[in-house]
Amino acid sequence: MLVVRLEAEDDLDGWREAARALALADVPPSQVDWAVGAIRSLFGGAQQLPPPTRPTFSVPKPFLDLAALVVCHREPERFGLLYALLCRIRDNRQAMEDRADPLVQRLERMAKEVRRDAHKMHAFVRFREVEDDGGVRMVAWFEPDNHIVRREAGFFVRRFAVMRWSILTPELCIHWDCERLTESPGATRADAPDGDPIEETWKTYYASIFNPARLKIKAMTKEMPKKYWKNMPETALVGELIAGARGRELEMVERSRSKAIPESGRDLELALAGEAEARQAERALQPGGNMLGAWEALLADAKACTRCSLYGPATQTVFGEGPLDAHIMFVGEQPGDQEDLAGRPFIGPAGQLFNRALGEAGVDRSTTYVTNAVKHFKFEPRGKRRIHSKPGGPEIDACRWWIDQERVLIKPPVTVALGATAARSLFGKTVTIGAMRGKPHRAADGGETWVTVHPSFLLRVQDRQEEEYARFVEDLRAIGERAKALA
Ligand code: URA
Repeated sequence: MLVVRLEAEDDLDGWREAARALALADVPPSQVDWAVGAIRSLFGGAQQLPPPTRPTFSVPKPFLDLAALVVCHREPERFGLLYALLCRIRDNRQAMEDRADPLVQRLERMAKEVRRDAHKMHAFVRFREVEDDGGVRMVAWFEPDNHIVRREAGFFVRRFAVMRWSILTPELCIHWDCERLTESPGATRADAPDGDPIEETWKTYYASIFNPARLKIKAMTKEMPKKYWKNMPETALVGELIAGARGRELEMVERSRSKAIPESGRDLELALAGEAEARQAERALQPGGNMLGAWEALLADAKACTRCSLYGPATQTVFGEGPLDAHIMFVGEQPGDQEDLAGRPFIGPAGQLFNRALGEAGVDRSTTYVTNAVKHFKFEPRGKRRIHSKPGGPEIDACRWWIDQERVLIKPPVTVALGATAARSLFGKTVTIGAMRGKPHRAADGGETWVTVHPSFLLRVQDRQEEEYARFVEDLRAIGERAKALA
């Protein structure tokens, strides 16, 4: 048995170096023991790595991307599992494309869990202000499920470049001083500061931007895992959490920036970057001008959504896209296979038909906001294929939280339900498409809403296809004209 000792829990470079040498020497996965220790020792002690017996080989980029995520997973077997897949890819470059393969499935599930953990860290880290020898420092406590802290440090550096901050976690702490990122060993909750005045600012800010009529405390508490509540001052105002998170962060950057005095060229560069951020913060914090920040915060939270069980098998949340001042919001049913992989709505066969019909109706898709009633792909695995499965009432209801938030932010003059699922979501009840087509209605939230068929219906109808397509184009033309009239 060969023992490979990696330097850290997330030592991707060490794993790659060792795995490559082992695969070239044809060492079977069962003959390798992967461990983590303070000192990297690829083939330590008296062990000899057999010489290479195989020609060098390259691996597809998706495997490298997968490995970079999976090494951060908490599963102790991760290095061995990745090495087993590497050996298969060495022998068959397409090995990873078999989505039904249990090893590929397991590794992809692990990658997804790491991605979700990272989204949670982006969305739920909350800083408190403290004074230390260098002045103001923002300090946050966070408990990730996986070894993601080092991997995610860049996100916080980019987001809070001109702010001195520390993120403390049980395994590893990271610190940014506006120039350098440093690390220290893990901390405990008691090392992190508790409440301070900035929390009042945050709470007031949340209270002022949110419409109390829309408070949904039950839904909110469901969305935010309890694990994170104790770190978040806003849980006192739990219903108001989502909108404006980015604006609040920018406000914090501005507070921090105003206390930094540039000394070197680098400081100046950072200060200028801070100016831009601060100007953006000002715009974002003006009443009504906070849409982009709020939408980005909403997106970050939706990426970590676990409101119903569909998030498990799906690859990712597919959120809405388009300009936030769109005059038309199109609502489909749920992402399909291609949308699930790409992370964008209506790009597969139904999306292509939809684009064609929009073009013929004189509606430019890029000026509209396109989203779905349900944000995760629901499917039945059949061999290597994933067959679309209709979302049920509880899934539509669980996902209504997101579409409600999208509608509050965008306030489209005209919304269009594409098919029965979208109509059920928007009207809060089952409706008959045929009876509602061709005229405006009031959705449950009062917005003007039109109903037409779903583009995939046109792909399914065998006879009358041309006739149904022409009717769909006519519906879209009438909707486009109505939106123009309201604009
Ligand atoms: N069907 C939908 O309803 N939405 C998509 O995004 C794709 C197909």
